[in-house]
Amino acid sequence: MENSTADPTPKRIAVVTGSNKGIGLETCKQLLSKGVKVVLTARDEAKGAVALEKLRALAPTDVVFHQLDVADPRSVEAFADFVKTQFGKLDILVNNAGILGKPPRSQLPPNSVSTGETYQGAEDCLNTNYFGAKRVTEALMPLLLLAQSPRIVNVSSIYGKLQYIPSKDLQKEINGIDTLTEDRLDELAQSFLNDFKNGELGKNGWPTQSSAYRVSKVAVNAYTRLLAKRYPTICCSCVDPGFVKTDMNGNAGILPVQEGAKIVVTAALLPDGSPSGLFYDANQVASYE
Ligand SMILES: NC(=O)c1ccc[n+]([C@@H]2O[C@H](COP(=O)([O-])OP(=O)(O)OC[C@H]3O[C@@H](n4cnc5c(N)ncnc54)[C@H](OP(=O)(O)O)[C@@H]3O)[C@@H](O)[C@H]2O)c1
Repeated sequence: MENSTADPTPKRIAVVTGSNKGIGLETCKQLLSKGVKVVLTARDEAKGAVALEKLRALAPTDVVFHQLDVADPRSVEAFADFVKTQFGKLDILVNNAGILGKPPRSQLPPNSVSTGETYQGAEDCLNTNYFGAKRVTEALMPLLLLAQSPRIVNVSSIYGKLQYIPSKDLQKEINGIDTLTEDRLDELAQSFLNDFKNGELGKNGWPTQSSAYRVSKVAVNAYTRLLAKRYPTICCSCVDPGFVKTDMNGNAGILPVQEGAKIVVTAALLPDGSPSGLFYDANQVASYE
């Protein structure tokens, strides 16, 4: 016989992108421990299956897996359909998937003067870290808007601070949240890539070290602020998890994943009525500059 008693407080549903390892996987674990249902995602089905086994050991009924490659529009569309069919709404989106766009320093030859960056790496980096987060957010937005108290957390970096863009004009334009638009932010990301291709990064005021990663995270931060302005019912935050020991930096980081994920989870579970459009690090609210 069916139990007709409706659960008075149904669990919140969270999606974490790039959650087969690193900060994303640990974010899933911590969300599960706080009573949130988690949609674990990975671009690689096999890696996702291994991660799912780990999480099912902790919370057998509160985690599901679905493939999601944030750089692939068709994968994002199929994923959004899955969430819609399975849950009908979404409470928490954590845009965590990210790449450095070049080999970590520890994998470059000793005394190398090369930055290790290539145009293809830079394009992949922007397409994953910035356009990927935007693609997933747009696809899931209708479901987020159906939740009672939705949250978006964009996992950024200290390199998302405007100070890492040398040009004062670019800094000023990107910081001008009242006049900046999403279209203009996309145009700036594209002009960065054009300048990279033409060898004109330094001349045009872009960073020349870890340039794509820095620009992608600056764009993620600005996008977070634009989202907060456009969707006043959603609490949108971006976070710097700190220098965390993961594959991204060849495990050279100093913080354990538990510490990095804690900052992400705190932003994901901010109390109702918390301010939106802020950047957080371990010391709480951080400056965008
Ligand atoms: N570690 C740090 O010190 C640090 C500092 C600041 C910010 N962050 C940010 O934290 C986030 C997580 O990084 P991490 O340190 O945990 O690195 P990580 O261990 O390398 O994990 C990155 C995750 O993103 C996934 N990913 C990459 N491209 C993807 C795509 N196109 N679609 C879906 N998933 C994709 C990876 O999947 P695969 O396994 O398939 O590659 C992996 O699951 C990133 O946004 C990163 O920029 C990290």
